[in-house]
Amino acid sequence: MDAQCTVHLGPRKKRPRQTGALMASTPHDVRFQELVLYILEKKMGTSRRAFLMELARRKGFRVENELSDSVTHIVAENNSGSDVLQWLQVQNIKASSQLELLDISWLNDCLGAGKPVEMTGKHQLIVRRDFSTAASNPGLQKLPPPALQKISQYACQRRTTLNNCNCIFTEALETLAENCEFQENEGSCVAFMRAASVLKSLPFAIVSMKDTEGIPCLGDKVKCIIEEIIEDGESSEVKAVLNDERYQSFKLFTSVFGVGLKTSEKWFRMGFRTLSKIKSDKSLKFTRMQKAGFLYYEDLVSCVTRAEAEAVSVLVKEAVWACLPDAFITITGGFRRGKKIGHDVDFLITSPEVTEDEEQQILHKVTNFLENKGLLLYCDIIESTFEKFKLPSRKVDALDHFQKCFLILKLHHQRVDRGEYSQQEGKTWKAIRVDLVLCPYERRAFALLGWTGSRQFERDLRRYATHERKMMLDNHALYDKTKRIFLKAESEEEIFAHLGLDYIEPWERNA
Ligand code: CTP
Ligand code: MN
Ligand code: MN
Repeated sequence: MDAQCTVHLGPRKKRPRQTGALMASTPHDVRFQELVLYILEKKMGTSRRAFLMELARRKGFRVENELSDSVTHIVAENNSGSDVLQWLQVQNIKASSQLELLDISWLNDCLGAGKPVEMTGKHQLIVRRDFSTAASNPGLQKLPPPALQKISQYACQRRTTLNNCNCIFTEALETLAENCEFQENEGSCVAFMRAASVLKSLPFAIVSMKDTEGIPCLGDKVKCIIEEIIEDGESSEVKAVLNDERYQSFKLFTSVFGVGLKTSEKWFRMGFRTLSKIKSDKSLKFTRMQKAGFLYYEDLVSCVTRAEAEAVSVLVKEAVWACLPDAFITITGGFRRGKKIGHDVDFLITSPEVTEDEEQQILHKVTNFLENKGLLLYCDIIESTFEKFKLPSRKVDALDHFQKCFLILKLHHQRVDRGEYSQQEGKTWKAIRVDLVLCPYERRAFALLGWTGSRQFERDLRRYATHERKMMLDNHALYDKTKRIFLKAESEEEIFAHLGLDYIEPWERNA
């Protein structure tokens, strides 16, 4: 390199003499007391770091030589958020919730302005969404800072709130997963689901491929798709799936309550592409469930709101308490995880008093009560096959053995929102899908954990139990294969503790 070049390229190149002179300079007054900066040397180099430190100090910034607890802002160059987090982890340093991780562009802006400038998304290497939402959700305040440990391949070792910074990627990956499911390609489906799930847990948005380094569950195929979306804003493969006739038909057919992959496949092969053709075809036989699915189709495809879920909860409680006054009734599923909408409303029912003989009758009594009130549009009761000493299932997607019922209830509109439906020809109610599950009192923690979801979270809990702990977990029990004993639990916290896992709150299980 010739010397001329060095002058024009500025501080990036080595300028030993000047750097030395700057380093030797006298201390400067600190004008901005509330900020304590630390400039990361990694990928920046010693001399450039020294140059920037001196410059910042001259402008009145407090810049530390060493990383200490007093540091409030870490500034890095050519590093992604995950790079810096990884570096901190290697140094064995815990980032406090106040610690900001910033790109050099922020410091440049500050130096230009001669004072600290506001930190925006373009400066921040990590968007601290967990802390910005803490004020509105007091439960979150006791959370530790975002995990700085290596991101786990298991969803049950990650905190996944509904603040998904990577929707653009997760939606694409979930479409691909769904398409694989429709083609009964289970392996690829799981791979796409796991990738989408891990991205949902990230506290930062992926903006470059560097950000994906060190993140588990992202195979080459997934990385290609992420890269394409970063570059073009969309993935050609996802676009092709969305336009694919088979995908569109399966999506439409499975949106009918009672229609699964087998029926969809059949209808697709028969050449059907629309629901109206299927409904009006005289040669087709429908199950009772599918008939209800078509009858209440419009209501059932429109999502259940939280307000509707609350209203359903009132009806369910009234019906259950009429039959079983001391019952505990808990809303589970997506609404327990804090979702604002859902495809149904799930409830877990249990009681400390009920005998095994009485238990069998309860859901029959509850549904009769609803029927007599004129609120039962559809009812399918599945009898219990629960056995006390049955080992937990080995399958990650196994169905449970509790008595349960799949219902469609008639929810009369409240005065406030009647207006919205007035165009529907005087219809004053909405059909809502409701699941009720009844479990023995001593199994309530397992049932609650199993029915809270998300599905991905549940799968990974079981996978973790099996592969990392030699235990078997399902909606009924936890079995330790090494000790050959069932592990009892009175609460979800105890189950996590048995598994050696940090407790994950329901609203952090949106994996
Ligand atoms: N579940 C189960 N056994 C079933 C059905 C569901 O264990 N036969 C569990 C699943 O783990 C799932 C939870 O119950 O996570 C709730 O199921 P579901 O209502 O299908 O999903 P949600 O997460 O509630 O999502 P949505 O808002 O679409 O209802
Ligand atoms: Mn649900
Ligand atoms: Mn459900």
